[in-house]
Amino acid sequence: MIGIIAALNIEISLLRQNLEGDETRLIAGNLYSKGTLCGQNVVLAVCGVGKVNAAVCAQTMCLEYDAEMIINTGVAGALSPELGVGDVVIADCAVQHDMDTTAIGDEPGTLSIAGESIVRLPCYRETALSLLGQAQKLGANAVLGTIASGDQFIHNPERKEFLRGTFNAACCEMEGAAIAHVCALNETACAIVRVISDSADGGAPVDFALFAPKAAKLGAEIVQNFLADE
Ligand code: ADE
Repeated sequence: MIGIIAALNIEISLLRQNLEGDETRLIAGNLYSKGTLCGQNVVLAVCGVGKVNAAVCAQTMCLEYDAEMIINTGVAGALSPELGVGDVVIADCAVQHDMDTTAIGDEPGTLSIAGESIVRLPCYRETALSLLGQAQKLGANAVLGTIASGDQFIHNPERKEFLRGTFNAACCEMEGAAIAHVCALNETACAIVRVISDSADGGAPVDFALFAPKAAKLGAEIVQNFLADE
């Protein structure tokens, strides 16, 4: 079973439309839709915005659906100056930029996974490379890179510079690294696909409203084509 999680409806609606044999359950306020998509057994869910919502959803997919892989798809703010609206980032790893125990001597973003300290959460390389290929086949400018997640919509230059300078992250969003964290705890493969909707600067709120729907759809198309080729 492959779990597919998005924060917003617009990020998953294409996949839901094409899901066959939809069997739905409501668990802790989220709807889980199980069925077949492009020949693969999948469960889809919209988790809502933020790391806790994403973690609850990912853990539910591990426990209730025995997901062997979870793919997170959605939109993101660009941190790399080389990325613009419509470009694609596939995570090679993910960090939680708002995790901060630096006051007691840790590196920024340090997490504890089963007693081990870690900053960069791994993503499953084979799937990341396949998703990258699918994005390129659709004509997108697509890169592999670090994705920075936190419970903040990034829209100011100082915070953007911190994320870029500290983690060398390609883009920022609000769920991916929480899903990667849950996947690491459950020994489940993780993949994150993000399409740029804004530049995480002063114009981000307006750009997000304008460009997120189209960017979100491209992310879902990439996931769909990946499933079809599996
Ligand atoms: N998702 C899309 N744009 C974002 C931004 N600027 N900050 C956080 N998450 C985002």
